[in-house]
Amino acid sequence: MAPFDKQKTAGQGTVLPRHIAIIMDGNGRWAQKRGLPRTAGHAAGAETFRRVASYCRDLGIEYLTVYAFSTENWKRSAEEVSAIMGLLKKYLEEAIEKMRRENVRIRILGDTSVLSGELRGLIERVESIDSTLDSHTQANLCVNYGGRDEIIRAVKAWQADPDRGELTERELSKYLYTAGMPDPDLVIRPGGEERVSNFLLWQSAYSEFYFTDTLWPDFTERDMDAAIASYQSRNRRYGGVK
Ligand code: FPP
Repeated sequence: MAPFDKQKTAGQGTVLPRHIAIIMDGNGRWAQKRGLPRTAGHAAGAETFRRVASYCRDLGIEYLTVYAFSTENWKRSAEEVSAIMGLLKKYLEEAIEKMRRENVRIRILGDTSVLSGELRGLIERVESIDSTLDSHTQANLCVNYGGRDEIIRAVKAWQADPDRGELTERELSKYLYTAGMPDPDLVIRPGGEERVSNFLLWQSAYSEFYFTDTLWPDFTERDMDAAIASYQSRNRRYGGVK
C-alpha cells in the first residue's frame, strides 16, 4: 500500500498536493560516480523527469513544475549548456508526437526570448497543442528561469500595463509566469543540498519543503511516495494557529 493517502485530493480538509515543484539536482554527481561525463547525468535526469511526470499524472497531481535550466546555468561549460538544450529539444519533439496520447499539458516558464529559434518554435507548437488537451495534469518546465528575475519582470509588466489594478499580492501574481496556477504545495529537492537556488521565490512562500540525499537520476516513484507522505504529515498553518 502507498505510504500516503491517495484518496485525499486538493481542497478543504484534504491533503494530496495539487502542485508539486522539483529542483532536479544531482545529475552531475550521479554521472561522476559512474565515471561518465556530466551530460550523461542530465540525460538520465531527463528520463527520471519523464517517469515522475507520468507518475504524477497517474496520481492526479494537477501541476508538476521542474527546474530544468536557471538564469545562472549559462555559467556552465558550452558543452553542458548545449547538452541540456538538446535534451529539451528532444523532449519537446517527443511531446509533439505523444502529448495527445499521454494527456499531459506542457508549459515552459522563463525568459525564452534568448533560446534558439528552433527551441522557440517547438515551445510554440507544444503550447498550442496544450490548449486543445482535456488534461488534468500540467508539467511546467522552467527554462532560463530565475525567481528574482521573474519578480522584476512581473513588476515591469505591471507598470507598463495601462489596465493595471492597484498593486497587491494577487495583482502582481497575474504577471508572473505562473499566472492562474496555484502555488506549489510541496517543493522537493533531491541531491542533498538544502537551499532554494532562486526557484519559485514568490510562489513558495507557504510551500512545504522536502529534501532527500537521493540524486535526481536515482529518484523513483517510491521517493515521490515518501515525499507526499511527509507532506501529508505536516500541519500547514500559513502563519496562523491550528
Ligand atoms: C542540476 O544538477 C541539474 C541541472 C542544472 C539541469 C537539469 C536538466 C535536466 C534534468 C534535463 C532537462 C530536460 C528535461 C526534458 C526535463 P547538477 O548538474 O547541478 O548536479 P550536481 O549538483 O551533481 O553537479
